[in-house]
Amino acid sequence: MAVLKDDVLAALGKVLGPDGKPLPRTGTLSDIVATDGKVFFSITVDAAAVKQWEPVRERAEAAVRAVPGVASALVALTGERAPAAGGGAPPRRPQMQSGAARPQAGVGHAPQSPAGIPGVEAIIAVASGKGGVGKSTTAVNLALGLRDLGLKVGILDADIYGPSMPKLLAIRERPQTIGGTRLKPISRHGMVVMSIGFLIEEETPMIWRGPMVMSALTQMLREVEWGALDIMVVDMPPGTGDAQLTMAQQVPLKGAVIVSTPQDLALIDARRGIAMFRRVNVPVLGIVENMSYFVCPHCGERSDIFGHGGARHEAERLGVPFLGEVPLDMEIREKSDSGLPVVATAPDGAHAKIYRGIAARVRDGLATASRPAPKIVIEA
Ligand SMILES: Nc1ncnc2c1ncn2[C@@H]1O[C@H](COP(=O)(O)OP(=O)(O)OP(=O)(O)O)[C@@H](O)[C@H]1O
Ligand SMILES: [Mg+2]
Repeated sequence: MAVLKDDVLAALGKVLGPDGKPLPRTGTLSDIVATDGKVFFSITVDAAAVKQWEPVRERAEAAVRAVPGVASALVALTGERAPAAGGGAPPRRPQMQSGAARPQAGVGHAPQSPAGIPGVEAIIAVASGKGGVGKSTTAVNLALGLRDLGLKVGILDADIYGPSMPKLLAIRERPQTIGGTRLKPISRHGMVVMSIGFLIEEETPMIWRGPMVMSALTQMLREVEWGALDIMVVDMPPGTGDAQLTMAQQVPLKGAVIVSTPQDLALIDARRGIAMFRRVNVPVLGIVENMSYFVCPHCGERSDIFGHGGARHEAERLGVPFLGEVPLDMEIREKSDSGLPVVATAPDGAHAKIYRGIAARVRDGLATASRPAPKIVIEA
């Protein structure tokens, strides 16, 4: 059953804020996102009032869950400094709520881009709807391609369920702390890298609840000394569920790169990924077709194992740029899995060239991508 935003709003009308006003009239609600029975929104309040609002958040979540057709509801409480009185709101800076694992970056009812990271010019996500399509491999090689364009690059491994960067970059050391609280990212191939995998033993089962996901991500974004970066590449976890949606909304993304293999099934998931980023007003910089074709190392004959050109066609259909085709190749797999990404270790080869081309298109796309104004769904 389709979830109607009106039903959600009606349910929220019965939840009162600390001052006794119905929630939709308090001016604290963000856009309400409802997909496949999953409802997500945030309540943005003054940082000093967060404690008073936590029970309201809980009641709001329960009220939405009780709406027919709602399978799950995730309501984030965001504490921010009160905006200055009058005209245009200033950029907002998130406040940490001590001891609580709640998302902190800004999504709410005013100009709602989450606060950026000081010194980091642009943050882009590498994402896919489907797992195992080569997102992490693409993220690393794209980051290296951007480095080769002369940019200062960081990689954030946001796949906290299955971090890949320790393996893809052969990183075994642990990050040092600075002043007891902030972490120093690991340097590799002229880039800085952070992954939850540097902090947690590989054998540790990763059981994360929604708020913990955001807390871990917030820490990696804001409590790491990233330094001055032109671009940060975020390797996203696969899927378009609650965790991914929350991340897409809470990380101050300038754009998203979607990775897909050419098969129909992967493309359906890629489409979902694109829809997710569009919903949270993050420009889609384009699609990469990974494992696009196979060239036999013995006879040089080319085979389109998964079909070929599906992603290019899909990009045209959806009106997003097509960023390039990466072949299915033993060298890419072997180098990737042994921590020696192909752009760093075979910079003169054909594969490195392909990734550098993708990087150039991403850089150019970023220059033109402008973030559309968020739609205001609810008026107080
Ligand atoms: N173009 C390619 N040619 C050959 N092998 C590839 C290619 N791209 C990725 N692979 C291999 O496919 C496997 C999955 O790749 P990767 O881990 O990058 O995918 P992912 O989408 O990040 O997966 P997950 O969803 O688990 O995060 C790895 O073994 C990787 O080496
Ligand atoms: Mg991955």
